[in-house]
Amino acid sequence: MKIQAKASKNYQLKTDCLVIALKPLKKISSQCAELNTATGGAIARLQDSGQFSATCGELVNLMIPEGVGAKQIILLGVGDKKLDTESVREALTSLATKLKSLKVDEATFELDALNAKSNVETVSRHLAEALGDTEYQYIKAPKSARGDTANKEFKATLWCEERKMLSTAKKAAAVGSAINNGKTLAKDLGNMPGNVCTPSFLANQAKKLGKSHGLKVKVLSEKDMAELGMGSLLSVSKGSREPAKLIVMEYKGAKNSKEAPHALVGKGLTFDAGGISLKPGAKMDEMKYDMCGSASVFGAILAAAEMQLPINIVGVIPSSENLPDGLANKPGDVVTSMSGQTIEILNTDAEGRLILCDALTYTKRFKPQTVIDIATLTGAVIVALGHQTAGVMGNDQDVVDDLIAAGEKSLDHAWQLPIKETYKKQLKSDYADLANIGTPGAGTITAACFLSYFTEDFRWAHLDIAGTAWGGSVGKRASGRAVPILTQYLMDRCK
Ligand code: BES
Ligand code: MN
Ligand code: ZN
Repeated sequence: MKIQAKASKNYQLKTDCLVIALKPLKKISSQCAELNTATGGAIARLQDSGQFSATCGELVNLMIPEGVGAKQIILLGVGDKKLDTESVREALTSLATKLKSLKVDEATFELDALNAKSNVETVSRHLAEALGDTEYQYIKAPKSARGDTANKEFKATLWCEERKMLSTAKKAAAVGSAINNGKTLAKDLGNMPGNVCTPSFLANQAKKLGKSHGLKVKVLSEKDMAELGMGSLLSVSKGSREPAKLIVMEYKGAKNSKEAPHALVGKGLTFDAGGISLKPGAKMDEMKYDMCGSASVFGAILAAAEMQLPINIVGVIPSSENLPDGLANKPGDVVTSMSGQTIEILNTDAEGRLILCDALTYTKRFKPQTVIDIATLTGAVIVALGHQTAGVMGNDQDVVDDLIAAGEKSLDHAWQLPIKETYKKQLKSDYADLANIGTPGAGTITAACFLSYFTEDFRWAHLDIAGTAWGGSVGKRASGRAVPILTQYLMDRCK
């Protein structure tokens, strides 16, 4: 998806599709008098026929119209009320779906009527994202799954007559397109099968991203991790033939390269069978998505680098498989984490926290301003919040609030759950400093409580994206979340 903004309307311009947003009026055509005249009154006739009344999200297309350079015209109704971001996005998603069904891959958009119900920034940015989401196809999808639409990159042009609006539209479209590129990368990585997307594959992916976007990339081997004392992370990878990796990517956009970075720590569990506490067979294939936290770190860093955000960012990705094996963790095993705290592993399927805790301890060395970890950590978060909203918890209310605000703005929502002493108590063990699971109930919270024992030295928040990274209305596909919320969070950190 390529999106640009241009001034100067010209109805003779050659375009595959001209999209015009319109509000309901007695005479809808009065909003686009010039176009109505050029087409010999087609808009007025359409309204008179009762086939278009411009309610919000209403769509109608005029094929092969006379008098204009466009091969077809699509009218998009915007209704007569103010629209919140969610409704704008909904209307733009139906528009993008319509364009796809018409096999249109180049279009010009005149959306002033929609801008008036919302604002040009929101509309331009979410148009880019809606077009991107709709055009997305998994890079390796077989022809049969792709249908007959050749995957041509969508080219969008925004028409903006007002100078001031034009520059805002350009900036917002660039933001939307950067977020879209980040989401596309996250979706591709998430959708890849577990036998392709291994810890080593993710490490190579980081090196590739480093080369193309000027990041400093370091990959720690199991030997390096053993030297650092990462007994918790390594206990998970012991049960797998694929060597674990700790991937570190540094983006330096701040004027002062020494400025403290914001850290993103993403769970990169490339396949979670549960280990000896084996998961049931149904839907186990979906555990290839257990690296979506790390995928969103890749995506957010890509978006930040494309926008050249003036801050420093460090991405830290602990990556491993979790399989049953003769050498795998057993319930009752006790391991020592890099922090020195010992952990009794009561359930080998609670492995995400075991790899994250050592990655979080490692992150301290960057003296980060804030640390956000992102993980498909618990099935319980789906019970609590469904596939719509991510769970957020942390040790610093400002960081949590900033994330929630970023979620609202980017439509990648998060909702807070409490971390409290009474939940932390659930992790008591007679055999180690901590157990890796709590007593039944509040599984999302006790998982975050576990992590809180490894984050006391910095401002931290945790995003549980087990519900939002795939599934729900998106189906068995990666959604690209949490790229939007993370990218917005990073944008908001730029002064
Ligand atoms: N990766 C899973 C979490 C998960 C489960 C995500 C289902 C999406 C759908 C995680 O490693 C896990 O297995 N968590 C356990 C924790 C439990 C053993 C305390 C869970 O949620 O069942
Ligand atoms: Mn698990
Ligand atoms: Zn897992």
